[in-house]
Amino acid sequence: MKALISDQIGPPSTLRYGDLPEPLAGPGQVRMAVKAAGLNYPDLLMIEDKYQVRATRPFAPGFEGAGVVDQVGEGVTRFKIGDRVLTHGYWGTMAQKHVAHEGDMVAIPDDLPFEDAAAMPLTYFTAHYALTRRGGLQRGETLLVLGAAGGVGLASVQIGKALGARVVAAVSSQEKAAHARANGADETLIYPTGDALDSRSLAAVFKAAVGERGADVIVDVLGGAYSEPALRCIAWYGRHLVIGFAAGLTTLPLNLVLLKSCQVIGVVWGQWARRFTDESWPDKEAVFALYRQGLIKPEITERHPLADGAMALTRLSERKTAGKVILLVE
Ligand SMILES: NC(=O)c1ccc[n+]([C@@H]2O[C@H](COP(=O)([O-])OP(=O)(O)OC[C@H]3O[C@@H](n4cnc5c(N)ncnc54)[C@H](OP(=O)(O)O)[C@@H]3O)[C@@H](O)[C@H]2O)c1
Repeated sequence: MKALISDQIGPPSTLRYGDLPEPLAGPGQVRMAVKAAGLNYPDLLMIEDKYQVRATRPFAPGFEGAGVVDQVGEGVTRFKIGDRVLTHGYWGTMAQKHVAHEGDMVAIPDDLPFEDAAAMPLTYFTAHYALTRRGGLQRGETLLVLGAAGGVGLASVQIGKALGARVVAAVSSQEKAAHARANGADETLIYPTGDALDSRSLAAVFKAAVGERGADVIVDVLGGAYSEPALRCIAWYGRHLVIGFAAGLTTLPLNLVLLKSCQVIGVVWGQWARRFTDESWPDKEAVFALYRQGLIKPEITERHPLADGAMALTRLSERKTAGKVILLVE
């Protein structure tokens, strides 16, 4: 089968389009003929061996995708050949065929296009889990989203609005701010980028945007020099959701946590969905319901054939993309 292949550690330029042996569905597993695969920041970590979980080379990257079941292994109860599904895992969807345990597959509604389904797991399921189960976001609360034009960020903006919050989107450019507003953000702020970030002045920018009461919930996918200034603008009893480190690993001073009686909460959606699979089904249905009501919609800005996957991942790594990038697989 055709696949995007990582056979050496490195950036997207090390990936090649070629042939891998077609996988077979073992006991409890389901094979999907992939129609669309979503690109995510963690794909970059995976091909550089910087992700928490490591793949054995050669492998096809791809945490998420959607397609049609074309083989079921022994003992599979939830799926049959021909079912439309999406999947989430750590690698393998940037290929014509993908095998996963049936617990990592989700049946998708007939009216959900493959490319929208492929764009959902890492961004929408993560954002929904973060804002509801972990952050307890309430109607009328103020939500500050860092990296708001990225995958998890934009999904958080849309879901935050759908849940009735006032959404403040923090991004790096006017163009990305317009993008966040078009996706429902009530207000936007532009944060500076680069190495010479001044923590106090960045905190002042955040405070001015969220208002005197502070942010009730913060979606933090950036880390780096952004987390502490963001925490400085949190409201009393606020929830700072630690989701990712696109701008680098970081630490937080605990005195700030004490001063606001706030919570700093870790969020790892994929592992939660795997450990508590049964608990996660209603959440996935809740995301589909928001989609059906027109309250959320993946903002797919780029579609590329599988053969151009290395180029597409390079664009993601250079922060040239806004919204979601999808690979179409035939
Ligand atoms: N915990 C979980 O369950 C979970 C699930 C999915 C993803 N994640 C993590 O969440 C983070 C974001 O993922 P994503 O898919 O939303 O990524 P993405 O689409 O690439 O978005 C990340 C955003 O971060 C901003 N950014 C700021 N500084 C950056 C830097 N130095 N390098 C790259 N981007 C920078 C960029 O926006 P600006 O240019 O506007 O700053 C970009 O839009 C990643 O760390 C990922 O591993 C965690």
